[in-house]
Amino acid sequence: MGTLLDKFSLKGQVGIVTGGGQGLGKVFSLAYAETGASVVVAELNQDTGSETVKDIEAIGGKALFVETDVKSRISIESLMEKTVERFGRIDFLMNNAGITKWCPAESVIEEDWKEVMDVNLNGLFYCSQAAARQMIKQKRGGRIINIASMSGYIVNRPQPQASYNTSKAAVIHLTKSLAAEWAPYNIRVNAIAPGYMDTAMTHKAFEDPAYGPIWTDSIPMRRPGRPEELAPLAVFLASEASSYVTGSTILIDGGYTAW
Ligand SMILES: NC(=O)c1ccc[n+]([C@@H]2O[C@H](COP(=O)([O-])OP(=O)(O)OC[C@H]3O[C@@H](n4cnc5c(N)ncnc54)[C@H](O)[C@@H]3O)[C@@H](O)[C@H]2O)c1
Repeated sequence: MGTLLDKFSLKGQVGIVTGGGQGLGKVFSLAYAETGASVVVAELNQDTGSETVKDIEAIGGKALFVETDVKSRISIESLMEKTVERFGRIDFLMNNAGITKWCPAESVIEEDWKEVMDVNLNGLFYCSQAAARQMIKQKRGGRIINIASMSGYIVNRPQPQASYNTSKAAVIHLTKSLAAEWAPYNIRVNAIAPGYMDTAMTHKAFEDPAYGPIWTDSIPMRRPGRPEELAPLAVFLASEASSYVTGSTILIDGGYTAW
Protein backbone atom coordinates (compact mmCIF):
# COMPACT_ATOMS: atom_id res chain seq x y z
CA MET A 1 0.00 0.00 0.00
CA GLY A 2 1.43 3.35 -1.04
CA THR A 3 1.37 6.47 1.07
CA LEU A 4 -0.25 9.71 0.01
CA LEU A 5 3.14 11.12 -0.94
CA ASP A 6 3.70 8.14 -3.29
CA LYS A 7 0.90 9.52 -5.47
CA PHE A 8 3.13 12.48 -6.30
CA SER A 9 5.95 10.24 -7.52
CA LEU A 10 6.81 10.25 -11.22
CA LYS A 11 9.07 7.23 -10.95
CA GLY A 12 9.27 5.40 -14.27
CA GLN A 13 7.31 8.12 -16.11
CA VAL A 14 8.44 9.83 -19.30
CA GLY A 15 7.78 13.53 -19.78
CA ILE A 16 8.58 16.29 -22.25
CA VAL A 17 9.14 19.94 -21.25
CA THR A 18 9.13 22.51 -24.06
CA GLY A 19 11.36 25.54 -23.50
CA GLY A 20 13.21 23.58 -20.82
CA GLY A 21 16.51 25.41 -21.28
CA GLN A 22 15.97 28.28 -18.85
CA GLY A 23 13.54 30.04 -16.55
CA LEU A 24 10.41 28.17 -15.53
CA GLY A 25 11.01 25.35 -18.01
CA LYS A 26 14.35 24.53 -16.47
CA VAL A 27 12.84 24.43 -12.99
CA PHE A 28 10.02 22.16 -14.22
CA SER A 29 12.51 19.83 -15.96
CA LEU A 30 14.57 19.48 -12.78
CA ALA A 31 11.47 19.01 -10.61
CA TYR A 32 10.21 16.21 -12.86
CA ALA A 33 13.62 14.52 -12.81
CA GLU A 34 13.86 14.89 -9.03
CA THR A 35 10.49 13.17 -8.61
CA GLY A 36 11.59 10.25 -10.80
CA ALA A 37 10.67 10.99 -14.40
CA SER A 38 12.87 10.68 -17.48
CA VAL A 39 12.76 14.14 -19.00
CA VAL A 40 13.02 15.25 -22.61
CA VAL A 41 14.14 18.87 -22.75
CA ALA A 42 12.63 20.28 -25.95
CA GLU A 43 14.34 23.60 -26.49
CA LEU A 44 15.18 26.00 -29.31
CA ASN A 45 18.51 26.94 -27.75
CA GLN A 46 21.08 24.17 -28.00
CA ASP A 47 23.36 25.53 -25.26
CA THR A 48 20.74 26.02 -22.56
CA GLY A 49 18.88 22.82 -23.48
CA SER A 50 22.05 20.71 -23.16
CA GLU A 51 22.90 22.49 -19.92
CA THR A 52 19.56 21.47 -18.37
CA VAL A 53 20.24 17.86 -19.36
CA LYS A 54 23.66 18.02 -17.70
CA ASP A 55 22.09 19.45 -14.54
CA ILE A 56 19.53 16.63 -14.46
CA GLU A 57 22.24 14.02 -14.93
CA ALA A 58 24.22 15.64 -12.12
CA ILE A 59 21.38 14.86 -9.69
CA GLY A 60 21.23 11.28 -10.98
CA GLY A 61 18.28 11.74 -13.35
CA LYS A 62 17.72 10.63 -16.94
CA ALA A 63 17.29 13.26 -19.62
CA LEU A 64 17.54 13.88 -23.35
CA PHE A 65 17.94 17.17 -25.18
CA VAL A 66 16.03 17.47 -28.44
CA GLU A 67 16.53 20.70 -30.36
CA THR A 68 12.96 21.79 -30.99
CA ASP A 69 11.11 24.73 -32.46
CA VAL A 70 7.46 24.51 -31.43
CA LYS A 71 6.62 26.78 -34.38
CA SER A 72 7.45 23.89 -36.71
CA ARG A 73 5.26 20.81 -37.02
CA ILE A 74 8.17 18.85 -38.53
CA SER A 75 10.26 19.71 -35.49
CA ILE A 76 7.40 18.61 -33.18
CA GLU A 77 7.01 15.27 -34.99
CA SER A 78 10.72 14.65 -34.69
CA LEU A 79 10.56 15.50 -30.95
CA MET A 80 7.88 12.87 -30.37
CA GLU A 81 9.77 10.27 -32.45
CA LYS A 82 13.04 10.87 -30.61
CA THR A 83 11.29 10.68 -27.23
CA VAL A 84 9.71 7.32 -28.04
CA GLU A 85 12.95 6.06 -29.61
CA ARG A 86 14.92 6.83 -26.44
CA PHE A 87 12.41 6.21 -23.62
CA GLY A 88 9.75 4.02 -25.25
CA ARG A 89 6.69 6.18 -24.64
CA ILE A 90 5.25 9.56 -23.55
CA ASP A 91 3.35 9.84 -20.25
CA PHE A 92 3.16 13.60 -19.89
CA LEU A 93 3.84 16.80 -21.78
CA MET A 94 4.52 20.19 -20.22
CA ASN A 95 3.84 22.97 -22.76
CA ASN A 96 6.01 25.71 -21.29
CA ALA A 97 7.69 27.45 -24.28
CA GLY A 98 6.38 30.98 -24.63
CA ILE A 99 7.36 34.47 -25.75
CA THR A 100 6.10 37.99 -25.19
CA LYS A 101 6.28 41.14 -27.29
CA TRP A 102 5.32 44.56 -25.97
CA CYS A 103 3.82 46.99 -28.47
CA PRO A 104 0.78 49.29 -28.53
CA ALA A 105 -2.04 47.41 -30.27
CA GLU A 106 -2.43 50.07 -32.97
CA SER A 107 1.21 49.57 -34.01
CA VAL A 108 1.62 45.77 -33.82
CA ILE A 109 2.90 44.34 -37.10
CA GLU A 110 1.49 41.14 -38.54
CA GLU A 111 4.77 39.25 -38.21
CA ASP A 112 4.99 39.90 -34.45
CA TRP A 113 1.32 39.13 -33.78
CA LYS A 114 1.69 35.85 -35.66
CA GLU A 115 4.91 34.87 -33.95
CA VAL A 116 3.40 35.21 -30.47
CA MET A 117 0.39 33.14 -31.56
CA ASP A 118 2.61 30.59 -33.31
CA VAL A 119 4.67 29.91 -30.19
CA ASN A 120 2.20 30.44 -27.33
CA LEU A 121 -0.96 29.00 -28.88
CA ASN A 122 -0.38 27.13 -32.14
CA GLY A 123 2.85 25.48 -30.99
CA LEU A 124 1.17 24.43 -27.76
CA PHE A 125 -1.74 22.95 -29.70
CA TYR A 126 0.41 21.03 -32.19
CA CYS A 127 2.64 19.66 -29.40
CA SER A 128 -0.50 18.56 -27.52
CA GLN A 129 -1.95 16.94 -30.63
CA ALA A 130 1.25 15.04 -31.45
CA ALA A 131 1.69 13.87 -27.85
CA ALA A 132 -1.99 12.88 -27.54
CA ARG A 133 -1.79 10.79 -30.72
CA GLN A 134 1.04 8.83 -29.14
CA MET A 135 -0.79 8.60 -25.77
CA ILE A 136 -3.97 7.34 -27.46
CA LYS A 137 -1.91 4.69 -29.27
CA GLN A 138 -0.27 3.62 -26.00
CA LYS A 139 -3.68 3.11 -24.30
CA ARG A 140 -2.36 4.09 -20.86
CA GLY A 141 -3.67 7.64 -20.58
CA GLY A 142 -1.50 10.71 -20.16
CA ARG A 143 -1.26 14.22 -18.78
CA ILE A 144 -0.77 17.54 -20.51
CA ILE A 145 0.17 20.60 -18.48
CA ASN A 146 -0.04 23.97 -20.22
CA ILE A 147 1.64 27.11 -19.00
CA ALA A 148 -0.97 29.82 -19.37
CA SER A 149 -0.64 33.06 -17.37
CA MET A 150 -2.66 35.38 -15.20
CA SER A 151 -2.55 37.49 -18.39
CA GLY A 152 -5.19 35.10 -19.75
CA TYR A 153 -7.55 36.53 -17.10
CA ILE A 154 -6.45 40.12 -16.63
CA VAL A 155 -4.77 42.83 -18.69
CA ASN A 156 -1.33 43.63 -17.31
CA ARG A 157 -0.35 47.23 -16.78
CA PRO A 158 1.33 49.39 -17.83
CA GLN A 159 2.94 47.42 -20.67
CA PRO A 160 0.89 46.91 -23.84
CA GLN A 161 0.89 43.21 -24.77
CA ALA A 162 -2.43 42.37 -26.42
CA SER A 163 -0.98 39.45 -28.39
CA TYR A 164 0.41 37.77 -25.29
CA ASN A 165 -2.75 38.29 -23.23
CA THR A 166 -4.91 36.94 -26.04
CA SER A 167 -2.69 33.90 -26.60
CA LYS A 168 -2.83 33.00 -22.90
CA ALA A 169 -6.62 33.44 -22.70
CA ALA A 170 -6.84 31.05 -25.64
CA VAL A 171 -4.60 28.55 -23.83
CA ILE A 172 -7.05 28.52 -20.90
CA HIS A 173 -10.00 27.71 -23.15
CA LEU A 174 -8.00 25.24 -25.24
CA THR A 175 -7.12 23.47 -21.99
CA LYS A 176 -10.83 22.94 -21.28
CA SER A 177 -11.58 21.88 -24.86
CA LEU A 178 -8.82 19.27 -24.99
CA ALA A 179 -9.66 18.03 -21.49
CA ALA A 180 -13.25 17.39 -22.58
CA GLU A 181 -12.27 15.72 -25.86
CA TRP A 182 -9.54 13.51 -24.47
CA ALA A 183 -11.12 12.48 -21.16
CA PRO A 184 -12.35 9.21 -22.75
CA TYR A 185 -8.67 8.33 -23.36
CA ASN A 186 -7.81 9.18 -19.75
CA ILE A 187 -5.63 12.04 -20.94
CA ARG A 188 -5.98 14.87 -18.43
CA VAL A 189 -5.27 18.40 -19.60
CA ASN A 190 -4.68 21.22 -17.11
CA ALA A 191 -2.92 24.56 -16.98
CA ILE A 192 -0.93 26.66 -14.56
CA ALA A 193 -1.49 30.43 -14.70
CA PRO A 194 1.49 32.10 -13.05
CA GLY A 195 1.56 35.71 -11.99
CA TYR A 196 4.84 37.60 -12.28
CA MET A 197 7.72 35.20 -11.74
CA ASP A 198 11.34 36.25 -11.46
CA THR A 199 12.84 34.98 -14.74
CA ALA A 200 14.70 36.44 -17.72
CA MET A 201 11.28 37.36 -19.17
CA THR A 202 10.58 39.82 -16.31
CA HIS A 203 13.78 40.46 -14.36
CA LYS A 204 14.93 43.64 -16.13
CA ALA A 205 11.46 45.18 -16.01
CA PHE A 206 11.17 44.55 -12.26
CA GLU A 207 14.30 46.69 -11.84
CA ASP A 208 13.00 49.41 -14.16
CA PRO A 209 11.24 52.24 -12.27
CA ALA A 210 8.71 52.48 -15.11
CA TYR A 211 7.43 48.96 -14.41
CA GLY A 212 8.80 47.41 -11.21
CA PRO A 213 6.94 49.57 -8.65
CA ILE A 214 3.61 49.32 -10.53
CA TRP A 215 3.92 45.55 -10.78
CA THR A 216 4.93 45.11 -7.14
CA ASP A 217 2.14 47.41 -5.95
CA SER A 218 -0.38 45.22 -7.76
CA ILE A 219 0.67 42.06 -5.93
CA PRO A 220 -0.76 41.57 -2.42
CA MET A 221 2.36 39.56 -1.50
CA ARG A 222 4.54 42.48 -2.76
CA ARG A 223 7.06 40.36 -4.60
CA PRO A 224 7.42 38.29 -7.78
CA GLY A 225 7.20 34.53 -7.44
CA ARG A 226 10.31 32.38 -7.48
CA PRO A 227 10.21 29.81 -10.32
CA GLU A 228 10.61 27.03 -7.72
CA GLU A 229 7.26 28.05 -6.23
CA LEU A 230 5.50 26.65 -9.31
CA ALA A 231 7.25 23.27 -9.21
CA PRO A 232 5.00 21.50 -6.65
CA LEU A 233 1.89 22.24 -8.74
CA ALA A 234 3.66 21.11 -11.91
CA VAL A 235 4.46 17.78 -10.23
CA PHE A 236 0.92 17.46 -8.83
CA LEU A 237 -0.62 17.93 -12.29
CA ALA A 238 1.76 15.42 -13.92
CA SER A 239 1.15 12.79 -11.25
CA GLU A 240 -1.51 10.41 -9.98
CA ALA A 241 -2.15 12.85 -7.10
CA SER A 242 -4.30 14.95 -9.48
CA SER A 243 -6.29 11.97 -10.85
CA TYR A 244 -9.67 13.79 -10.82
CA VAL A 245 -8.37 17.16 -12.04
CA THR A 246 -8.92 17.99 -15.70
CA GLY A 247 -9.78 21.13 -17.66
CA SER A 248 -8.60 23.30 -14.77
CA THR A 249 -6.34 26.31 -14.85
CA ILE A 250 -4.78 26.97 -11.49
CA LEU A 251 -3.48 30.45 -10.62
CA ILE A 252 -0.26 30.97 -8.67
CA ASP A 253 0.09 34.72 -8.54
CA GLY A 254 0.79 35.97 -5.01
CA GLY A 255 -2.76 37.31 -4.99
CA TYR A 256 -2.44 39.56 -8.08
CA THR A 257 -5.84 38.64 -9.50
CA ALA A 258 -7.54 39.04 -6.11
CA TRP A 259 -7.32 42.83 -6.41
N1 LIG B 1 8.10 34.79 -16.12
C1 LIG B 1 6.85 35.13 -15.86
O1 LIG B 1 6.56 36.07 -15.10
C2 LIG B 1 5.71 34.36 -16.46
C3 LIG B 1 4.42 34.60 -15.97
C4 LIG B 1 3.35 33.89 -16.51
C5 LIG B 1 3.58 32.96 -17.50
N2 LIG B 1 4.84 32.75 -17.97
C6 LIG B 1 5.01 31.76 -19.03
O2 LIG B 1 5.91 30.75 -18.60
C7 LIG B 1 6.60 30.20 -19.71
C8 LIG B 1 8.09 30.27 -19.47
O3 LIG B 1 8.46 31.62 -19.27
P1 LIG B 1 9.89 32.07 -18.73
O4 LIG B 1 9.67 33.28 -17.90
O5 LIG B 1 10.63 30.91 -18.18
O6 LIG B 1 10.53 32.57 -20.11
P2 LIG B 1 12.03 32.52 -20.65
O7 LIG B 1 12.06 33.49 -21.78
O8 LIG B 1 13.01 32.69 -19.54
O9 LIG B 1 12.17 31.03 -21.22
C9 LIG B 1 11.42 30.58 -22.31
C10 LIG B 1 12.13 29.39 -22.94
O10 LIG B 1 11.35 28.95 -24.07
C11 LIG B 1 12.22 28.76 -25.16
N3 LIG B 1 11.50 28.95 -26.43
C12 LIG B 1 11.07 30.14 -26.94
N4 LIG B 1 10.52 29.93 -28.15
C13 LIG B 1 10.60 28.60 -28.39
C14 LIG B 1 10.23 27.78 -29.48
N5 LIG B 1 9.68 28.31 -30.59
N6 LIG B 1 10.45 26.44 -29.41
C15 LIG B 1 11.03 25.91 -28.31
N7 LIG B 1 11.44 26.64 -27.25
C16 LIG B 1 11.23 27.97 -27.30
C17 LIG B 1 13.32 29.79 -24.97
O11 LIG B 1 14.49 29.46 -25.71
C18 LIG B 1 13.51 29.75 -23.47
O12 LIG B 1 14.43 28.74 -23.09
C19 LIG B 1 6.10 31.00 -20.93
O13 LIG B 1 5.04 30.31 -21.55
C20 LIG B 1 5.61 32.28 -20.30
O14 LIG B 1 4.64 32.93 -21.12
C21 LIG B 1 5.91 33.42 -17.46
